[in-house]
Amino acid sequence: MKILQNVSLLPYNTFGLDVKAENFAEVSSVADLRASLSTGIQPVFLLGGGSNVLFTQDVQGLVLKNKLRGIQVIREFKNKVWVEVGGGEVWHEFVLWAVAKDYGGLENLSLIPGTVGASPIQNIGAYGVELKDVFVRLKALNLTTGKLRSFNHTACQFGYRDSIFKRQEKGKWCITSVVFSLRKSPHRLNISYGDISKTLESSGITKPGIDDISRAVVQIRTSKLPDQAKIGNCGSFFKNPETERAVLDQILETYPQAPHYRLPDGRVKIPAGWLIEQCGWKGKRVGNTGCYERQALVLVNHGGATGEEVKNLAKTIVESVVEKFGVRLEAEVNFWPLN
Ligand code: EPU
Repeated sequence: MKILQNVSLLPYNTFGLDVKAENFAEVSSVADLRASLSTGIQPVFLLGGGSNVLFTQDVQGLVLKNKLRGIQVIREFKNKVWVEVGGGEVWHEFVLWAVAKDYGGLENLSLIPGTVGASPIQNIGAYGVELKDVFVRLKALNLTTGKLRSFNHTACQFGYRDSIFKRQEKGKWCITSVVFSLRKSPHRLNISYGDISKTLESSGITKPGIDDISRAVVQIRTSKLPDQAKIGNCGSFFKNPETERAVLDQILETYPQAPHYRLPDGRVKIPAGWLIEQCGWKGKRVGNTGCYERQALVLVNHGGATGEEVKNLAKTIVESVVEKFGVRLEAEVNFWPLN
């Protein structure tokens, strides 16, 4: 493990922002992590795949890139396995590993960018499945004390794109490994959400396996979301807002077709992409940044954008949605520094 100075983070964030880290190191083991912390350089910023962070300025202190690897079956049951995965493993590579072994539960989460260690932080989710549905526990190293601690399901306090690691424990831990519970065949398939069944049908698949579902999700995501290698972005920039039913009722008066999902507590979730599109942002370009033409929830870097530019666009979008619908969008992406 080597600590480098003045390193560009351009290759390490999917928004393609050219900011510098005062100090930077890649850590491949718990020993590496502890050695880097023993330098006393503060503050420490943990970087996974860099696919959910918006840097608006250079990063002071020490940036650590999580490269802790390894995928291991640690317990075998009749109907399922527990798999422990290093926090630095690439999420989609882990999904492909599971699909190839015929372990089910992750296929709907195919092609989500980022690392395994980052996946519990915002409880990643897509097509009716969330990380919390397959999560058992994680191990994390405290960035102040260097001690390892285990967090079980309850301790993580998962919510919609949320966990304790986005709230009171924010920035305090490096997630070194995560244990998942994956099902053996026969699988429980979840194809009711969004375009999955339509995509399977159009490929002539009537009895899908988890590999078919994974391929269908990859196909849908590739058709809607920009390729991060070509157009910088962080996936959904905002969370889908959860509001009182009365707010939706008012919107339905003018837009009877407004998409929405009922929540168990009587409230409703309204797709932020739809709200943003109605405000006329979809496909709009502002300087080097803009709103993606095929999914308004995704803000993009058309090349050479700064984090500040993206942040300003996000702020303007939030204001216009408040003005038109009385709904305040909340960012899903993490800003650095915080505000
Ligand atoms: N919509 C529009 N205009 C748009 C975008 C969407 O009208 O520009 C409408 C769609 O027609 C649809 C609804 O909004 O009726 C929902 O759209 P979509 O199915 O594309 O999903 P989403 O709610 O925009 C969420 C997640 C995605 C995840 C998809 C599929 C959040 C913040 N985003 O997006 O997650 O892939 O569902 O499950 O919950 C991510 O977190 O980075 C991400 C991509």
